[in-house]
Amino acid sequence: MERTFGIIKPDAVAKGHAGAILAAIEENGFTLVGFKKTRLSLAQAQAFYAVHKERPFYNDLVKFMTEGPVVVMVLEKENAIADWRKLMGATNPEKADAGTLRKRFAENIERNAVHGSDAPETAAVEIPFFFTGSELL
Ligand code: RTP
Ligand code: MG
Repeated sequence: MERTFGIIKPDAVAKGHAGAILAAIEENGFTLVGFKKTRLSLAQAQAFYAVHKERPFYNDLVKFMTEGPVVVMVLEKENAIADWRKLMGATNPEKADAGTLRKRFAENIERNAVHGSDAPETAAVEIPFFFTGSELL
């Protein structure tokens, strides 16, 4: 079993898509071992996306991720990291495959509905960023 970290981003929560996204996660064989609604502080968003600090879209991304509540999640299944990225679809929804969450719910390359860890080392940092061990059941 593998665990990964995901976020339902502010655009999707604001539009009322959180329930549909959680349903798709369960329908695709993931166990939701932890999930909660929260709102990222400026400092949290800056730290979470620090890897993109030098990118031109960094400030806009931080602003977007703090504009409203999100749902943070820990998902478990075999091959969870790759399978969650697959269910999410490409970063740019115009390039996302049919049936993926970004194809269904994303507005554009920035306001793209969901986040997912991209590697085991990333998941290992992102999960404890938001969850304590006792919150994962
Ligand atoms: P994520 O980290 O959120 O799961 O998305 P990702 O791996 O598919 O994409 P990544 O390259 O890590 O980019 C992180 C997030 O930054 C925003 N972005 N905006 N305006 C732009 O060109 C641009 N490119 C990326 C998106 O919200 C993207 O998910
Ligand atoms: Mg990424």
